[in-house]
Order: sequence, then C-alpha cells, then structure tokens
Amino acid sequence: MNFYSRKLVKPQDLNPGGTLFGGTLLQWIDEEAAIYVACQLDQHKVVTKYISEIDFVSSAKLGDVVEIGLETTGLGKSSITMKCVVRNKFTKEKIITIDKLVFVRIDEQGNPVPHGKTLEDEKQNMDVPD
Ligand SMILES: CC(C)(COP(=O)(O)OP(=O)(O)OC[C@H]1O[C@@H](n2cnc3c(N)ncnc32)[C@H](O)[C@@H]1OP(=O)(O)O)[C@@H](O)C(=O)NCCC(=O)NCCS
Repeated sequence: MNFYSRKLVKPQDLNPGGTLFGGTLLQWIDEEAAIYVACQLDQHKVVTKYISEIDFVSSAKLGDVVEIGLETTGLGKSSITMKCVVRNKFTKEKIITIDKLVFVRIDEQGNPVPHGKTLEDEKQNMDVPD
C-alpha cells in the first residue's frame, strides 16, 4: 500500500471532543481516492459508489500529521475497488481502516461505462509517490 498524501490536523478539523472530526477525515479520504482512481484509470469522470464498514481505530489530535494509504484490490468492468488505511505519519498508529471503497467510471449521462483496465495495466500505471 502506498501512502499518497499527508494532512495536518488544524483547529477547524476538530470535533467537540478536541480530536479529528470523522466527517473531515472521510472527506479527505474520498478526495484522495478520487485522485487515485483518476490516475489508475486515466479517467476523471468517476464517482464514489460504495464505502464499506469504517473502523475508527484511534484518534488524531491537533497538530498531528496523518497520511492516507490506498491500494487496489479489484477491477471490474466499470468499477475499481480499493482498501484504505489512514495512520499517524510519525508513530504509524492506525487511525482508520476501510476494507472496501468502490468507484465507478461514468459517461456524460451518469451511466456506468467500462474503464477497459486490467490489474496488469493498473500495476504498470501505478502512481507511486516520489
Ligand atoms: C455509480 C452509478 C452510476 C452506478 O449505477 P448502477 O445502476 O449501480 O450500476 P451497476 O449496477 O451497473 O453497477 C456499476 C458497477 O458498480 C458495482 N456496484 C454496484 N453496486 C455496488 C455495491 N453496493 N458495492 C460494490 N460495487 C457495486 C457493480 O458491481 C458494477 O461494477 P462492474 O461494472 O465493475 O461490474 C449510480 O449508482 C450512481 O450514480 N450513484 C451515485 C454516485 C454518486 O453520486 N456518488 C457521490 C456520492 S453522493
């Protein structure tokens, strides 16, 4: 699994308990996954279809740096399936795990359309961070 982006937990990201707001983290993950999928499929017109059970394993605090990791676990006709881990950049403690995130390539009308990629293409097109 590659960890693509890092985020600094800022005051506006906190919940009333003083830790990272879950919805903010999900927004970061969804955006990161959309970028990942666009790179893997060479297609920008993709939508979030499904997010499986989310396990908030531990919390992040003000000033923490978190990193978001994604890995392809499956490619269908129009869909791509990934798993996701978010962890503290420095301690490597897991903050969230998601077993299954599914994105679908759509056409102009919003209907699913084949992306034409195989796992072999996907490996060659792997967007590895520098
Ligand atoms: C994405 C969307 C176009 C798919 O339409 P659909 O009628 O479900 O299409 P299909 O049943 O043909 O499924 C399309 C693909 O998604 C997969 N899929 C559908 N439901 C799924 C689910 N619950 N879990 C995992 N995969 C699913 C199918 O297996 C299929 O994959 P494949 O083409 O690789 O075999 C439609 O559901 C949609 O527009 N959803 C809203 C998306 C959106 O706006 N997301 C942003 C959040 S608001």
